[in-house]
Amino acid sequence: MFVCSCFGVTEEQVRAHADAGACTPRQIASACKAGTDCGGCVRRIQALLGRGACPRRELIETGRPPLAAELPEAA
Ligand code: FES
Repeated sequence: MFVCSCFGVTEEQVRAHADAGACTPRQIASACKAGTDCGGCVRRIQALLGRGACPRRELIETGRPPLAAELPEAA
């Protein structure tokens, strides 16, 4: 089923980008342009991303910078 009719992006494609690490509609847009024309699909993309869809989201919500999560602790 199409999520973004402006760019012909399907639900499966959005899920694949989410599995590859896209956590926000902006990151989905960077990956496939979905949401960058009329914007009518952005809420559907947000719903697909949902809570728990991205492992980094938990870090963001707890206030920890996601990119620093893989760095060793400072001694
Ligand atoms: S439906 Fe996605 S940008 Fe228009």
